[in-house]
Amino acid sequence: MTGVIPPAPPGPGEVLVCCVEIPRALPPETTARLRAALPDDERARHARYGHEGAAGEFLCGRALLRAALSAWSPVAHDAWRFSLNAHGRPAVEHPASEVFFNLSHTRGLVALALGRDPAVGVDVERLDRAVRPLEVADRFFSPDEVAGLRALPDARHRDRFLALWTLKEAYIKARGMGLALPLREFSFAPDDEPVRVRFAPSLDDDAARWRFARVDLDSGHRVAVAARVERLSVRVLRVDLAALAALVGLPGGVRAV
Ligand SMILES: CC(C)(COP(=O)(O)OP(=O)(O)OC[C@H]1O[C@@H](n2cnc3c(N)ncnc32)[C@H](O)[C@@H]1OP(=O)(O)O)[C@@H](O)C(=O)NCCC(=O)NCCS
Repeated sequence: MTGVIPPAPPGPGEVLVCCVEIPRALPPETTARLRAALPDDERARHARYGHEGAAGEFLCGRALLRAALSAWSPVAHDAWRFSLNAHGRPAVEHPASEVFFNLSHTRGLVALALGRDPAVGVDVERLDRAVRPLEVADRFFSPDEVAGLRALPDARHRDRFLALWTLKEAYIKARGMGLALPLREFSFAPDDEPVRVRFAPSLDDDAARWRFARVDLDSGHRVAVAARVERLSVRVLRVDLAALAALVGLPGGVRAV
């Protein structure tokens, strides 16, 4: 599905994943329009990125987030205020919103997950990224995940590794704790449909409460979503960068609170 932002926010159990493909260097007029949607502190953060790619990913992510929130509430793009939890996860602080989000970026793509449940996480990775599957899995994955990976022929290592990596990252992001959660202490069985997870007792979590989804985008990226919901339905929306820039550049489309 392609478009800008749908007229209504996701309903209960729905997660909308908005993806924007971003070129290595953004056209200057696009940068100017997207920056206009950001408050001063985010514009300053954007300016501090030393790497053009990372700067563009941050800018597109925050502009997309603000465009989505403002599409569903009469609030100016730059008026949304976010707070950070102890592990750095941003959430809407003001004005109140019934929509929760999580952002992920990788080279060339930003993914924004939006839903009604606060426990939503997303991860996006390039399918062609350089990986050392066995080496990294040995260090970070659970013993069951490592055994499952090693049992596969070499040609399947990359795909299984990225499946596990994106699911694990989506889960730790949905919990809002990032790498404070021990990656070895939960295991995914990515061959199962629906995907299953098992938690060690130390994680103090209930696998029955979680749902996961995976989507391979035709841009060569894989997205994983984790959500603590009874039933999960994921919709992916490709948002064109020029359409996003035009949307956030619209004068007076929304009013400030
Ligand atoms: C910080 C972390 C949450 C994500 O890092 P990442 O993979 O570099 O980045 P992503 O692009 O997927 O996500 C970054 C976004 O997540 C959000 N985020 C930051 N901290 C977060 C947290 N604790 N929980 C959830 N989301 C968080 C932010 O919105 C951030 O983007 P923004 O700063 O532009 O708003 C954390 O998981 C991490 O450091 N991971 C490193 C990678 C790794 O070792 N993964 C192991 C997987 S097996």
